[in-house]
Amino acid sequence: MQRGKFITFEGIDGAGKSTHLAWLEHYLQDKGLEVVVTREPGGTALGEALRQLLLDHRQAMHPETEALLMFAARREHLDKVILPALDRGAWVISDRFTDASFAYQGGGRGMSTEKLEKLEQWVQAEFSPDLTLYFDVPVTLSRERVQSARVADRFERETDSFFERVRQAYLQRARQFPQRIWVVDGSQPMTAVKTAVAEIVEDFWANLPKAASGD
Ligand code: TMP
Repeated sequence: MQRGKFITFEGIDGAGKSTHLAWLEHYLQDKGLEVVVTREPGGTALGEALRQLLLDHRQAMHPETEALLMFAARREHLDKVILPALDRGAWVISDRFTDASFAYQGGGRGMSTEKLEKLEQWVQAEFSPDLTLYFDVPVTLSRERVQSARVADRFERETDSFFERVRQAYLQRARQFPQRIWVVDGSQPMTAVKTAVAEIVEDFWANLPKAASGD
């Protein structure tokens, strides 16, 4: 059995990743693959309970507590959902993963990269996504989208400068891992973003070892 692939979607709140995530799910299903769509924080019963706490705007917490809870949810997610699915040959698409911890807890909250790398090493060792799509939008645009969408959660209530730091941290990650992280300009019209996503995914598919792509 060929092991599945792990694809993650990232971006600041309001970057517009959800629509494209649904498109990718269908694209892969049309190839005859089993596709598991999941999210972080969340993806398991415990992870979703932690998500409630993490997103609740009345729940104040130390930045390191926040990081520890993100990685606690991730440990559970890997054990219960991601790794078993990949082992049985399914492809897993996750709405956010560890890059979000480096961007939000690292860039946004100012937690040190060394501490985050220790948590990363502990929780996932060398495991990382096979492909990451990072949707990049200016903070002002993401704010407009979020404000019209719903009641703001604990992160969405953060300042513009917080989101600017998160964005810069994501861009830094993309420069650090250019083979894995693809930057998609999320400020373009929806059709152009979709074309960009399709090109990246098709290229990824075309470059898979033959047995994995079923050719
Ligand atoms: P969302 O996935 O619905 O956008 O909400 C999840 C929020 O949690 C989002 O604001 C980003 C934040 N987050 C972190 O701060 N660190 C993490 O490691 C993850 C996975 C998410």
